[in-house]
Amino acid sequence: MDFKLANALGRIVELKDRSTGAHTWRVTMYAQAMAEADRMPISEVLSFMLGAVLHDFGKIDVPAEILSKPACLTEDEYRTVQRHPIDGWERLRRLGVDDPFVLNVVRSHHERMDGSGYPDGLCGADIPVEARWFAVIDAFDAMTGFRPYRDGIRETDAARAIEDLEAHSGTWYEPRAVEVFKALHGAGRLDSILDHLNDKDGLLTPGTPLSKDVISMAHDALLTSSPKSADHQHIDAIIKLAKQTEIKS
Ligand SMILES: [Fe+2]
Repeated sequence: MDFKLANALGRIVELKDRSTGAHTWRVTMYAQAMAEADRMPISEVLSFMLGAVLHDFGKIDVPAEILSKPACLTEDEYRTVQRHPIDGWERLRRLGVDDPFVLNVVRSHHERMDGSGYPDGLCGADIPVEARWFAVIDAFDAMTGFRPYRDGIRETDAARAIEDLEAHSGTWYEPRAVEVFKALHGAGRLDSILDHLNDKDGLLTPGTPLSKDVISMAHDALLTSSPKSADHQHIDAIIKLAKQTEIKS
């Protein structure tokens, strides 16, 4: 899959969950910084970034009212949210994506080193390394980005988030990934990503409005990647929302 379609799908997913602002953009930029710091070959840098763009693709199947719920989720709602790594992985497989970097980030970014994560409950080295690295990025952004259940961003959030990553290094997170992320943060490499595009109204969300072609391309990919028996109501609803956004812009 190329970046054009991946970006279109990433932005369509974010339409369902505006409160995360530019979460996908930020984690993709963090992924680039991490991959470069680890001196990954360029092809792997690009695949890791593509995995970041698509990591929450499966949230297209989570009802918007659950994604933006401003209170604790019920057990049933939490189970629904926990399906998104597998739903996203299955959708990508149906689209013919076979890049293991991309598929592993999408499927395993909520696994934890001690086996307490989901969806497969993998432990340690059984979790693909790219997913272990991305888990650190996703967790940091979850702690520092705007969320519907939290009111605003405090200056100390980033420092606290790094402390939290360190506190769970080895139990939840890959220690080397935490080390690299902390070093990048300490050097100020992440400041421009962290400080910007974290607005709760989404006013600074980067990129131009979705064009007709991009919406049409995303619509085709969403239909192609849906299970055969699925009803497409939620897909039609999100495409309608994308079209409204396009018209207003
Ligand atoms: Fe996720």
